[in-house]
Amino acid sequence: MQGFDPHRLTAEDDPYPIYREMREEHPLYYSEEREIWVVSRYADVRATLLDAGTWASGQGTVPSGFLAEKPMLISEDPPYHTHLRGAVHLSFTPRRMRALEKRVREIAVELLDAVDPEADTELFSTYTDPLPVAVMTELLGVGIEDRDEFKRCADAIIHTTEGRGEAAAEAQRWIFDYLENVLPERAQDADPEEDLVSMLLQPPPDARGQLTHDEVVGFCTILLLAGTETTTNALGNILHLLERNPALRAELAARPESLPLAIEECLRLESPVQGLSRVASRDVEVLGEKIREGERLHMLFGSANRDERVFPDAEQLDPRRDPNPHLSFGLGIHFCLGASLARTELRVGLEELLARYPGYALDRERSHRQASDTNRGFTQLTARLAGPA
Ligand code: HEM
Repeated sequence: MQGFDPHRLTAEDDPYPIYREMREEHPLYYSEEREIWVVSRYADVRATLLDAGTWASGQGTVPSGFLAEKPMLISEDPPYHTHLRGAVHLSFTPRRMRALEKRVREIAVELLDAVDPEADTELFSTYTDPLPVAVMTELLGVGIEDRDEFKRCADAIIHTTEGRGEAAAEAQRWIFDYLENVLPERAQDADPEEDLVSMLLQPPPDARGQLTHDEVVGFCTILLLAGTETTTNALGNILHLLERNPALRAELAARPESLPLAIEECLRLESPVQGLSRVASRDVEVLGEKIREGERLHMLFGSANRDERVFPDAEQLDPRRDPNPHLSFGLGIHFCLGASLARTELRVGLEELLARYPGYALDRERSHRQASDTNRGFTQLTARLAGPA
């Protein structure tokens, strides 16, 4: 097999034959150039996710080992992770997320109202990118006057590869400063029903523990990092898959109640997070090989989700697949905290777009995939919206 370079593979139209080869021939692969082990079968990815005692997140969960400055849920291990997650989980209940649905729909409608369906529309900059960022500023209670600057900084952080670079660092500082400035105001006037930051500052009695200011800032930042680009990528990937399956697209436009299952299937086939990594906290044997403490193991969700051992006709899009135990939101203690919100954003975003433009046509020449060690999605997706249904 020719080396494994996630940065190149995530951007390919069809990385899946290579994943298949890995599953069949090299279920545990060592990438010399990245100095990283890779597991690609469903059972091995699942076992790794479920064994947080052996497989730590504390040294970063991307292949490069990048770590942000503030305490971040996603890159902490128990017992500290348990404390942080206990303090925030109530703010993300499915019930609370359903209450956000009305706002998500208003934002989607506003964005669609602003496009000219007769002209070419760049769906990334007009729809798939601003929708999740607007939902996040809503969730965080960012004031309307600060939204544009907030979005500029969020974009600089999110769209810089692995969050590095001077622009990203400066944008991160702006967001930290912004949140640090609003925290004292919110603490005085906190109404936990109103927004997430207030709720974190004044947790309800049944919440487990309270966060320090630094932890609240870190949490808000991880929401931006974990909750926006992933959802943008999911939405773009689904629009792309549906365009290639016009019969399914027409069915979903006519019967939006079929969307939830179809969305899960699209998330399985084109996982917005193709893979994440862990570091061994002790010497451990995997598939007969010894992995030493401190070595990094990459879990290929994009491959596990197409493992025939678990998913019959795994390469096929079956919009009624049920059960569909894909790993696109992870599993175990780090299971995606925003999964309900993401599902709501995807369903509502697709309902609104398909209701108006069931026959949208993508321009392949002007659609580009992002290159990333972990994420798969489009950074440009040009479409003619008003097409024949
Ligand atoms: C389709 C969109 C999304 C996908 C595919 C996705 C995927 C994931 C995955 C795979 C993980 C597990 C990380 C790990 O095991 O290391 C994760 C964790 C997380 N996600 Fe999402 N996510 C999405 C949307 C969101 C949204 C909208 C939010 C916030 C509102 C969010 C917040 C988080 C947080 C805070 C974590 C860390 C949880 C922890 O470490 O305990 N995600 N996500």
